[in-house]
Amino acid sequence: MYKWLIRPVLFSFDPENVHYFSFKSIERMFKIPGIKQMLTTRFRAPAHPVEMFGLTFKNPVGLAAGFDKDGVLIDKWKFLGFGFVEVGTVTPKPQGGNEKPRLFRLPKDKAIINRMGFNNGGVGALIEKLKEADKGDIIVGANIGKNKDTPNEKAVNDYMFCFEHLFPYVDYFVVNVSSPNTPGLRRLQEKGPLTEILSTLQEFNQRQEKPKPLLLKIAPDLSYDEIDDILEVAENTSLSGLIATNTTIRRDGLRTNKDYILQIGKGGLSGKPITMRSQEVINYINQRTEGRMKIIGVGGIMDKDDARSHMEAGAGLIQVYTGFVYEGPGFAKKLVKGLSAPDEAEKLKERLLRK
Ligand code: FNR
Repeated sequence: MYKWLIRPVLFSFDPENVHYFSFKSIERMFKIPGIKQMLTTRFRAPAHPVEMFGLTFKNPVGLAAGFDKDGVLIDKWKFLGFGFVEVGTVTPKPQGGNEKPRLFRLPKDKAIINRMGFNNGGVGALIEKLKEADKGDIIVGANIGKNKDTPNEKAVNDYMFCFEHLFPYVDYFVVNVSSPNTPGLRRLQEKGPLTEILSTLQEFNQRQEKPKPLLLKIAPDLSYDEIDDILEVAENTSLSGLIATNTTIRRDGLRTNKDYILQIGKGGLSGKPITMRSQEVINYINQRTEGRMKIIGVGGIMDKDDARSHMEAGAGLIQVYTGFVYEGPGFAKKLVKGLSAPDEAEKLKERLLRK
């Protein structure tokens, strides 16, 4: 029903307004008596537990950073089938983000271009939401960033501020230096600044009674040499894992009218056009580290086959954003079911063997 009835209506309005409308609708939906019960019984996602970073994920499908930036619906996502949710990107101070319009749909490409620019309510507001939330068994990660007006030389202070203040309230952390929408941010992916940020956080982390998993989210636009540098830093700073990938600044191979793409201008592209590149990056990291680096795979997962391919490339967990926008509220459960079902090829092989 979502694809043929609700999506065409939603997609006829401004994408950012629809985003907030969808949020409100989900909030309102949970006010219907008995809805949680129905979602956890009649429409339950199959159990598909995954152990990673010393945490138990109820299933491997997560909601990617940027969707619930301020943690408004933390305790609702589990009812839609998600095993984990990454809140943020959060910055120390609240900030409004870039000027609107800053979110664009490309339906012909099953894609989105965004230049939101870390619009968020700041760490203080997020902590209030985390305190209020009845998390249950959903794992919550915090994706942390720097404020736009903080120069790169002082970025480490912003990451540390977020890390220290959010430490008691989340299960894992992600350092985001890969968003294309904060000027200069991606330069923090270079060896020097990256080592400074990650080692400062780890110093604090390792002094705690129970250190938290610390991950780094990387861009799909890095060269293999640049990924090698990041792997070296990851090893030197004892990172728990990598999230691959964020959005791309590339525009090749799109079906959408070129003039419209030019008119949109800057921003990160997500969805189907980045499926292959994300898988390539995941596969490269996996091969290069002989499977030692733990990876959360994200980028262009639009159906269960993409989800499987990301996992086959080396991801232990996956996240979705654009696929959720295009496929609707049942998407996470569909993916969990698809990943839990025995592979069609395996089933066929078994049947042939039985003959
Ligand atoms: C994002 N993404 C993102 N990532 C991040 O680390 N912090 C953020 O604040 C955001 N914000 C954001 C906003 C919007 C509108 C989109 C579409 C995306 C990137 C996201 O988490 C993911 O890495 C990419 O979108 C690739 O996955 P999909 O969308 O192809 O499934």
